[in-house]
Amino acid sequence: MKNRCTHIAVFASGSGSNFQAIIDAFENEQTNIKVALLVCDNPSAFVIERAKQKQIETFIFNPKSYNNKESYEIAVKEMLSEYKVEWIFLAGYMRIIGKTLLQAYPNRIVNIHPALLPSFPGANGIKDAYESGVKVFGVTLHFVDEGVDTGKIIDQDSFKIKGSESLEEIENRIHQLEHILYPKVIKSLIIGS
Ligand code: GRF
Repeated sequence: MKNRCTHIAVFASGSGSNFQAIIDAFENEQTNIKVALLVCDNPSAFVIERAKQKQIETFIFNPKSYNNKESYEIAVKEMLSEYKVEWIFLAGYMRIIGKTLLQAYPNRIVNIHPALLPSFPGANGIKDAYESGVKVFGVTLHFVDEGVDTGKIIDQDSFKIKGSESLEEIENRIHQLEHILYPKVIKSLIIGS
């Protein structure tokens, strides 16, 4: 019997380097994990170009065209169900997930945060960590709940700086770490589930 393929969706709002790392990691692997859909809330995001190049289906929406979060999340949920998506991975998706999706995907929505939670939650994790003067930086993968970067931690990785690195250098190191850690975590969640 052929192994079952697990469909996942990636949600992103911007450049999509994590989206790229995820599709690159799974396109040639025999893991039976398929990125079935990109969900994007920003019609001018570069991540859409990345999806086109890899012929990944996209659902692009403008939240302003909907009455509220519930109505656009219902539209997103319909697309997820059409593409038989079982897991959602947020990769730079700049919106809080609402009840509609949380209830439809309990413990099946994961986010990547570019800092060592519970320190430095929010939209500027790297800058906040840098300005605080910490010497250890890192990345956190966590389940998504109704809060901002508050869900149960799944995995983390970190590195120590010497002190002379610039914010830009640290950002690059964090992104490199993200691109390695995210596919690994996806694999272990799905294969172990
Ligand atoms: C990443 O640093 C991720 O941790 C954060 O948003 C950034 C997205 O970057 N949540 P990219 O769009 O994947 O390049």
